[in-house]
Amino acid sequence: MDYLISPSLPADKLALNHTIKLGVMASGSGSNFEAIAQAINKGELNAKIEVLIYNNPSAKVKEKADRLNIPSILLNHRNYSHREALDQAIVEVFKVNKVEWVVMAGWMRIITDVLLNAFPHRVINIHPSLLPSFKGINAIEKALKSQVKITGCTVHLVDLEVDSGPILVQAAVPILPDDTAETLHHRIQIQEHRIITQGIALAALKS
Ligand code: GAR
Repeated sequence: MDYLISPSLPADKLALNHTIKLGVMASGSGSNFEAIAQAINKGELNAKIEVLIYNNPSAKVKEKADRLNIPSILLNHRNYSHREALDQAIVEVFKVNKVEWVVMAGWMRIITDVLLNAFPHRVINIHPSLLPSFKGINAIEKALKSQVKITGCTVHLVDLEVDSGPILVQAAVPILPDDTAETLHHRIQIQEHRIITQGIALAALKS
């Protein structure tokens, strides 16, 4: 099945002339984190993941980081009294690790201006819908419920509004008549793993 990708830039047009230093934030299984790491290992993205921050002690992303020999740090949001305090701790970890670009790869917390001010126009998010449709949590369930025939995923720069900010790249995924949230999420994730690295490269090229 064909998918629409925008913009359809060839890989050589996404080549970066220096190795960008990434800090990745993730809350869950970490398949997007792994896709970034694999793209780097294959030479498709000129970047290095300096550190992974995860907020959930049982997040599977931690095992992936260990397997890939990428340093990881648990910052459990339950240990912080407010969002700004968590974001301040995140900023400190990223600054110590000389991170240039922040990638929210399935980060399920709302971020604040503490993080955005520390990395202005340098925070990237991936969301499982064609934004501006279906912002917030349960984007896939919302798409199914709405009966749209096409949904997808978006990589965008982050601003203070949830799932807002300039769009870098999107991929469209048709909704099939017998789709469940699981089957649809699976096909969306195949596209996410392609566009996450394109989005990072596009953001760095545009900066
Ligand atoms: C991804 O599908 C991502 O789009 C979504 O979480 C999943 C994480 O999967 N993010 C959001 O919903 C953020 N609003 P992963 O842990 O396998 O990368």
